[in-house]
Amino acid sequence: MKRILIVGAGGQIGSELTTYLRKIYGASNVVATDVRECGKLAEGGPFEVLNALDAKAMSSVVERYKIDAIFNLVALLSAVGEKNPQTAWNINIGALMNALEVAREYGCALFTPSSIGAFGPTSPKDKTPQDTIMQPTTIYGVCKVTGELLGNYYFRRYGVDTRSVRFPGIISNVTLPGGGTTDYAVEIYYEAIKAGRFTCPVPGDVYMDMIYMPDALRACVELMEADPARLVHRNSFNLASMSFTPEIIYAEIRKRIPSFEMTYEIDPVKKAIAESWPNSLDDTCAREEWGWKPEWDLSRMTDDMLEVIREKYRSEVAV
Ligand code: SER
Repeated sequence: MKRILIVGAGGQIGSELTTYLRKIYGASNVVATDVRECGKLAEGGPFEVLNALDAKAMSSVVERYKIDAIFNLVALLSAVGEKNPQTAWNINIGALMNALEVAREYGCALFTPSSIGAFGPTSPKDKTPQDTIMQPTTIYGVCKVTGELLGNYYFRRYGVDTRSVRFPGIISNVTLPGGGTTDYAVEIYYEAIKAGRFTCPVPGDVYMDMIYMPDALRACVELMEADPARLVHRNSFNLASMSFTPEIIYAEIRKRIPSFEMTYEIDPVKKAIAESWPNSLDDTCAREEWGWKPEWDLSRMTDDMLEVIREKYRSEVAV
């Protein structure tokens, strides 16, 4: 990768991936785009307002900046997708088709995240294999499976260098996720610091895969820089790091903040989604084909999240 375009850079992943890639590849070589102005991203390097559903506008940015790799991060997440499935399909697949087409036309590599949401209730629950039954019951999952198939199709049919991972829920502290089922695992840290209590929308005993943002960012670069000759799979690799339930993360926070309280107000949509997803993925193929290895576990992540969020609120109060 030399000259990189990020589509949907204002979201949870993009806002941190932009900074991360600019450090590695040089600020002027990473073009951040989003449907809205994003002050911070524009300060650190090139930024363009881009509606990912506008194919011509996407081509024009790729041509102007001589882009050779695209990260398409546009997505409506699982819970919000259920509120308006048609819009979720149009946005998620519309942006992806434009990215695939522009990658084909200009010879770019393309990364599009897939998700644990690509699996459904008929997939094996524990150590879910790389290649297995994928019958998701959310529109988000339907889009992700479609995206994986399209990515493989464009690789086989046109030689487009498409690569992807099935991300677990991503836990981070720069930009909040919006409308996902795993969002609770981010919100719980903010509420622990802010309010000392948290109302959890997901049942206490449901396991889901999670990953800390620094590991997620590193995975993006390591996969995109991997030797293509070693890649048996492309779209998409199971990625695992940690798997826990709300009760487990609650206990981990209470070790550091003993007065922290958690109660439940179950959101039936999130409950159904969470219960339909795997407990934990088997990421052997990612480990073997491109050397994936997570560095963060729940304990270290909890220390870091609490410290960063505490600092955020401290400086807000100081302002
Ligand atoms: N974090 C996503 C969601 O909960 C899953 O990939 O929708």
